[in-house]
Amino acid sequence: MLDVRDMHAYYGKSHILQGVTMNIQEGEIVALLGRNGVGRSTTCKAIMGEVQPIGSVEFKGKSIAGKKAFEIANLGIGYVPENRDIFPGLTTRQNLILGLKSGQKDGSGRWSMEDMFTLFSNLRERADVEASVLSGGEQQMLTMCRTLMGDPDFIMIDEPTEGLSPQMTQKVAELLKEIAGRGIATLLVEQKLAIAMDIAHRVYVMGHGKVVFEGTPEELRARDDVRQEWLEV
Ligand SMILES: Nc1ncnc2c1ncn2[C@@H]1O[C@H](COP(=O)(O)OP(=O)(O)OP(=O)(O)O)[C@@H](O)[C@H]1O
Ligand SMILES: [Mg+2]
Repeated sequence: MLDVRDMHAYYGKSHILQGVTMNIQEGEIVALLGRNGVGRSTTCKAIMGEVQPIGSVEFKGKSIAGKKAFEIANLGIGYVPENRDIFPGLTTRQNLILGLKSGQKDGSGRWSMEDMFTLFSNLRERADVEASVLSGGEQQMLTMCRTLMGDPDFIMIDEPTEGLSPQMTQKVAELLKEIAGRGIATLLVEQKLAIAMDIAHRVYVMGHGKVVFEGTPEELRARDDVRQEWLEV
C-alpha cells in the first residue's frame, strides 16, 4: 500500500529526515516509535506532502512525492495530526460531514456517521453540540472519525492517545483495531510503548531522522538494547 524509500526532508537548512525507509500493507497497523524530536511527525507530513519529501514515496504503486496535500488526500491517504484541529464553532455532526470528500455522501464509503455514533456513544450524545465543548478525548475521537469519513485506504494517526485517560486510550485502541479490520493500512505514531506493543503488527523505531529498528512487537520486546538506546528516557 505505502512504500517509502530513502526519504529525506528539510526545514530550511536543518536536515531532519535522513533516509527513512518503510512500508505498510493493507490491514496492517504499523507503529512508528521514537523519542521526542526524532522526526516522526515530519515523516507523516512528508508522506502527506505538507513537507517536501526527497526520495521515493509510492502509494498503491504510484509515486506521490511532489504532489500537493489535497491531491494525496484524494488518492486515499488520511492524516490525523497531533493537534486536534476540530472546527470548534461547528457541531460534532457538522465536523463529521466536513470529513467527506467532494462527491462523497454519508454512507457511500466504508464508514458512515452512524458507525461513528455506534463506536462512540459520547459523539452521538454530543452530535448537535458545538465541538468546542467536547473533552480532549472526545475531540481526539472526533478528528479520527472525521478523517475516516473521507474513506481513506491508508491512515496516519499522530499520537492519538496523548493526554487521554486509560479508558479513552482503550477506546482509541479499539478503533484502531476496527480500522485494520476493515482492510485499511495504519501508521500509528505513538509515545506509549504499551499500546503499540499491544495492537501493532509491526514496529519501526526512529532515531535522529532514520529508522534504527524494524520488527514485530515480540522482536522489539527481546531487544533491551534498542529500547534503552532509542526509546527509554
Ligand atoms: N516547522 C518546523 N520548522 C523547523 N524545525 C522543525 C519544524 N517542525 C519540526 N522541526 C524540528 O524537526 C525535528 C523533528 O520534529 P518532529 O515534529 O518530526 O518530531 P517528532 O518525532 O514528531 O517529536 P514530537 O512530536 O515528540 O515533538 C525536531 O528537531 C523539531 O524541532
Ligand atoms: Mg510529533
